[in-house]
Formats: sequence, C-alpha cells, structure tokens
Amino acid sequence: MVSSGLKDGVLTGKVAFVAGGSSGINLGVAQAFARAGARVALISRSLEKIEAAAKTITDEGHEAIGMAADVRDYTAVEQALRQTADRFGKIDIVLSGAAGNFVAPALGMSANGFKTVVDIDLIGTFNVLRASFEFLNRPGASLISITAGQGARPSMFQAHVCAAKAGINMLTKCLAMEWGPAGVRVNAISPGPIEDTEGMRRLAPSAEAEQHIKSRIALRDYGAKADIAEAAIFLSTASAKYITGTILNVDGGSELGDAGGTAIPG
Ligand code: NAP
Ligand code: COA
Repeated sequence: MVSSGLKDGVLTGKVAFVAGGSSGINLGVAQAFARAGARVALISRSLEKIEAAAKTITDEGHEAIGMAADVRDYTAVEQALRQTADRFGKIDIVLSGAAGNFVAPALGMSANGFKTVVDIDLIGTFNVLRASFEFLNRPGASLISITAGQGARPSMFQAHVCAAKAGINMLTKCLAMEWGPAGVRVNAISPGPIEDTEGMRRLAPSAEAEQHIKSRIALRDYGAKADIAEAAIFLSTASAKYITGTILNVDGGSELGDAGGTAIPG
C-alpha cells in the first residue's frame, strides 16, 4: 500500500476517478489518494483485477469502487463516470493512466499493433478527460494524465509509445487552454523508470538492463510509485491552484539526457 506521506487528510471530501487503476503506478496513486482522504473510483479492462485493486483500498478502511471499462470505449467510460458521480457525488480529480507497451521495431509492428497502443494511451486519454468534463466539480477540478519520457524524446523500438505519449503531452496543453476558463486544471506527470512495475519489466527485463538504465540517470536510481503519488496529490491540492498545462517530470533527471560517466569532482 502506497502511503501519501506527509499529505494524509489533504484530499478529505474529494472524489477521484482513476483510469487504468488495477495495478502499478496508477493503483499506487489511487491508494495514496485514498490515504489522503479521497473516495476513489477505479476502472480497467478486467473486472476481476479492478475489484481486487479496489479491495486493497477498502481493506484499509477507505471508500473505493472498481468498475470494468475499456478506455477505448467512450460509452463504457462515460457510464463508469456516471456511476462514480451517482455513488460519490461530483468528481474532483481524474487520473488518466491506462496504457499498453511492448518493445518492437516499427518494421516488427503491424498497423494494428501501432494503433492498439495509440488507441489505449492517446485516444483513451482523450475519452477519459472529455467524458469526465460533465461530471467535474468545477471550478477547482484537477485532471492529470500519466505520460512518459517517450513523449518528449524519441526512443528505439518505441515508435507507438512515443507517438501516443507526445500526443498526450499536446492534448494536456490544449485542454488546459480550453478548460482553464471553467476553472479546470489539466496537467500531466511524466514518470521516469519506476521500480516494481509492468512497464519496467517490459522495458528492462534483466538485471543488466536495469543497471545500465540506472547508471545513465542523474539520480542513479529508479523511482518509487510513491514518488508519482506525491506529485499527483500535490497537483490535486490548492497548492497547485495556479498550475495548468504542465508536464511534470518525476524522473530522477531522466529528461535531461544521458548522465552516465564520472562527475567532475569538487
Ligand atoms: P501497468 O501496471 O500495466 O498499468 C497499466 C494499467 O492500465 C493496468 O491497470 C491495466 O489494467 C490498465 N489498462 C490497460 N489497457 C487498458 C484499457 N484499454 N482500458 C482500461 N484500462 C487499461 O503499468 P505501469 O508500468 O504501472 O504503467 C502505468 C502508467 O505509467 C502508464 O501510463 C505508463 O505509460 C506510465 N509510465 C510507466 C513507467 C514505468 O516505469 N513503469 C514510466 C513512465 C510512464 P487491465 O489490464 O486490468 O486493463
Ligand atoms: N510485438 C509486436 N506486436 C505486438 C506485440 C509485440 N510484442 N504485442 C502485441 N502486438 C500486436 C499484436 O500482434 C496485435 O496486432 P495484429 O492484430 O496485427 O496481430 C496488436 O498488437 C494488438 O494485440 P492484442 O493482444 O490484440 O491487444 P490487446 O488490446 O489485447 O492488448 C497490449 C494491448 C498489446 C498493449 C498488451 O500488451 C496489454 O494489454 N498491455 C497492458 C499492460 C502494459 O502494457 N503495461 C505497461 C504499461 S507502460
């Protein structure tokens, strides 16, 4: 269970909707939202997985519901948002983090393989954010998408993810402009490599690959799910009330580029 650190109680009275919340980083954020006082609704494709995820939260004494909805299906997403609003009232926080990834060169990827990732990550994020608008507690709502470094930097064997996450970055900025006048803030978090996640199991499946990545990051380590949760909580509080359209890197300096080698002493 990911703790919300110093921020216990800071989201009391808020309702959070987390897309892609059955595992990994997004579940960690959902757990931390609950610890911080929010009531939480979770969606993912698998009813079994999402109900188990919600149970990790209710087992701690917090309120949570899990619903099956594929983010590629606008109507299903809308229904889940409506169910959330019916159960908990208006929605204050939306985290859009559903994603798919596999490592493949463009020539080893069918058109459907490319489209599948763009559909889940980019179109899915549009669906979640667009459908949520009607249910938001406005002004004051906070929408957060989970992007990745691939959205800002090209990467070998990640053409689908780079295209999708770059799209999320631009979508974040466009929606921030359009929805700012309604008092809705739209931001994204770009995690670096996060320990114990499906994403890193796919991208760095061996101990050698993991060590190689760590040796190239300025802070020389993977991040934790709690690091992303802390950032998401911050973006959802009044402390961030003047922040919109931002891509917040929580990545140990990954975005800066290759920091391998020995630092100059001094
Ligand atoms: P993960 O555990 O596999 O999380 C992905 C989640 O998305 C799962 O809950 C999955 O649940 C759900 N999902 C997938 N397709 C879906 C769909 N079509 N509709 C609804 N839900 C769907 O992976 P993770 O590594 O924690 O990644 C979480 C997020 O962080 C992703 O956006 C990823 O791009 C981003 N990120 C991760 C890292 C990292 O180090 N891991 C780094 C940068 C960015 P079901 O299978 O139950 O549908
Ligand atoms: N290399 C090349 N193509 C691949 C592939 C791989 N490793 N894995 C899947 N594909 C292709 C499939 O062949 C298919 O294309 P085709 O119909 O032309 O054969 C296409 O991608 C869709 O595959 P499918 O398994 O039907 O998609 P899905 O919607 O059931 O699953 C994925 C989506 C492929 C992204 C799957 O890996 C997934 O569910 N991921 C969620 C978890 C995850 O990726 N977590 C990390 C998040 S960063």
